Amino acid sequence: MLLVTGGAGFIGANFVLSAIAQTGEPVVNLDKLGYAGNLRNLESLRGDARHLFVRGDIGDRPLVRSLLARHRPRAIVHFAAESHVDRSIHGPAEFIQTNVVGTFSLLEEARAHWSALAGAERAGFRFLQVSTDEVYGSLGAHEAAFTESTPYAPNSPYSASKAGSDHLVRAYHHTYGLPTLTTHCSNNYGPYQFPEKLLPLMIERALAGEPLPVYGDGRNVRDWLYVLDHCTAIREVLARGRVGETYNVGGNCEMRNIDVVKLVCALLDEARPRPSGRYEELIAFVADRPGHDRRYAVDTAKIRGELGWQPAESFETGLRKTVHWYLEHRDWVSEVTSGAYRNWVEANYAVRGAA
Ligand code: NAD
Ligand code: TYD
Repeated sequence: MLLVTGGAGFIGANFVLSAIAQTGEPVVNLDKLGYAGNLRNLESLRGDARHLFVRGDIGDRPLVRSLLARHRPRAIVHFAAESHVDRSIHGPAEFIQTNVVGTFSLLEEARAHWSALAGAERAGFRFLQVSTDEVYGSLGAHEAAFTESTPYAPNSPYSASKAGSDHLVRAYHHTYGLPTLTTHCSNNYGPYQFPEKLLPLMIERALAGEPLPVYGDGRNVRDWLYVLDHCTAIREVLARGRVGETYNVGGNCEMRNIDVVKLVCALLDEARPRPSGRYEELIAFVADRPGHDRRYAVDTAKIRGELGWQPAESFETGLRKTVHWYLEHRDWVSEVTSGAYRNWVEANYAVRGAA
């Protein structure tokens, strides 16, 4: 079985759903249900004995200790984090607390647990850190893509906190021998993404007829990967990645933000035309994000060459799926945006306490 942290969030939920569907392996899912954690994402697993949801904080060491002792997972797949750059600019403290201090606590418990294992259980144990390409900093227009040996140069409180946690993971391998793996993925998109991030935000605002806020000149470049392709990469790294190594993951799909937004508009024009005019007319350039990284690009030769991983979706197919998912899941969107799911969670857990 796997211990997944942050499995009620965007990528974590996609990982839990796809891992159980494809391998049948049981998952213990530890998530504190912060604003981005949503049990509705996991509704299709309700009553499924292969999924045990535990509401709790990765920094709660007695809880993590008891989960490791009780379930003896073969691996910890660590997604739990504060993940939104703009929020990190407004309030960095939470990012340090969860991403750095929380990861430290988790590593300490993982180390204690792993040290007491023996034989095949000890040899097979893994701690997989789900990191980001943002730790490498910002590229100029003509610079080569990030490789696994690109020096860290994080620029936002978010990426600095992820970099800090990556360094701890590295040190726990180097110093204590903890069998770690780290992935650095580019921007994900797909179902269940909280509508504060670029793609769902643009879809939702377009449908509401609201201005589409593009930061700065809109020419910042990101590499995009469909979330389920990220999930298969994590499974491959977990299965066959070399202990102590880091693997870049990306879609080989660099896009300027303005072009991404225009593509979303074109797909909406096709699927849900406005009564008059085109969605593109809603685009509004707004003040830039402070410290806004100009360009990310990821060299994925290592994971492709060593593990044979490659994405199944192109940006065209993945974006179409994503736009249609948001069009078909209006209830999910309205619950997330109204906060109704949070009320439901509070009511549900107030009577149960922590698991
Ligand atoms: P998300 O914000 O949608 O989900 C994060 C989840 O972690 C939420 O369910 C939240 O409740 C949970 N969580 C937060 N703090 C916690 C704590 N202290 N204890 C337990 N649970 C906690 O984020 P996401 O986009 O799914 O990202 C998941 C991971 O992937 C993060 O580590 C992020 O840095 C990394 N990542 C994200 C992207 C991307 O494009 N979204 C790209 C590369 C890497
Ligand atoms: P985001 O989804 O926040 O991911 P990240 O900052 O981690 O890459 O943003 C993706 C890009 O879109 C980033 O360059 C900032 C830009 N952006 C906008 O132009 N407008 C918006 O309203 C948002 C949320 C992001």
